[in-house]
Amino acid sequence: MLLSARKISKHYGAIQVLNKIDVDVYENEIVSIVGPSGAGKTTLLHLLSTLDRPNVDPDSSLFFKSTNLFDLKDTQLSKFRNQNMGFIFQFHELLPEFTALENVCIPGWLAPKHANNIIENKAMDLLKRLGLEDRLNHKPLAMSGGEQQRVAVARALINDPKIIFADEPSGNLDTENAKQLHDLFFELQKQRGCSFVIVTHNQELAKRSNRIVRLKDGKIDS
Ligand SMILES: Nc1ncnc2c1ncn2[C@@H]1O[C@H](COP(=O)(O)OP(=O)(O)OP(=O)(O)O)[C@@H](O)[C@H]1O
Ligand SMILES: [Mg+2]
Repeated sequence: MLLSARKISKHYGAIQVLNKIDVDVYENEIVSIVGPSGAGKTTLLHLLSTLDRPNVDPDSSLFFKSTNLFDLKDTQLSKFRNQNMGFIFQFHELLPEFTALENVCIPGWLAPKHANNIIENKAMDLLKRLGLEDRLNHKPLAMSGGEQQRVAVARALINDPKIIFADEPSGNLDTENAKQLHDLFFELQKQRGCSFVIVTHNQELAKRSNRIVRLKDGKIDS
């Protein structure tokens, strides 16, 4: 087991968005989170990836292997996230003033695991693998949506995370680019043995994934 969440809840005022949810993510699997708009998919992804904390509940826990992530302080958590988790968002969220190569390098520079030149070589390899060898020095605005999303994938992989979280990663891509991005996820899963947790409205991706978590009315609808 890679990630294991027990009884996690989130409410905003009187609105109970998530009610004692249990989710497991195994090594080397692709899990899709699906459900109607407003069901709490993004909220769940943020809780699982520690970008947000759930409501305090003595029965709740979030384990990454043997570490209870709820025990970590915010500064420890950011370090943990940077070193173990990758993130891909709907609107890529690349930094506009930096080049593709720099955007990919940044999480690597922040995690002082390797020297900068090693990170840069790795970023170049990743971008080349994703067919972006001619775009290394382009800034995000000078790239297409599909290219920007592939840069975001490279950025998510730079620190070799065991788990990658994605929120509607293909939501802004046309059918062909969406399919290519999904193919890439399955290829990376196979090659690197990493896991993906993907919020998606895309039926084709949900069907291809190893498991589907359906959210409805704050609960998992199985
Ligand atoms: N910061 C917040 N304050 C108050 N309510 C919030 C907040 N964030 C989310 N919500 C509410 O929580 C519910 C779940 O939101 P969430 O973004 O998780 O839904 P979602 O399933 O991702 O929807 P979509 O498919 O439209 O992205 C919604 O009703 C939303 O209005
Ligand atoms: Mg959402």
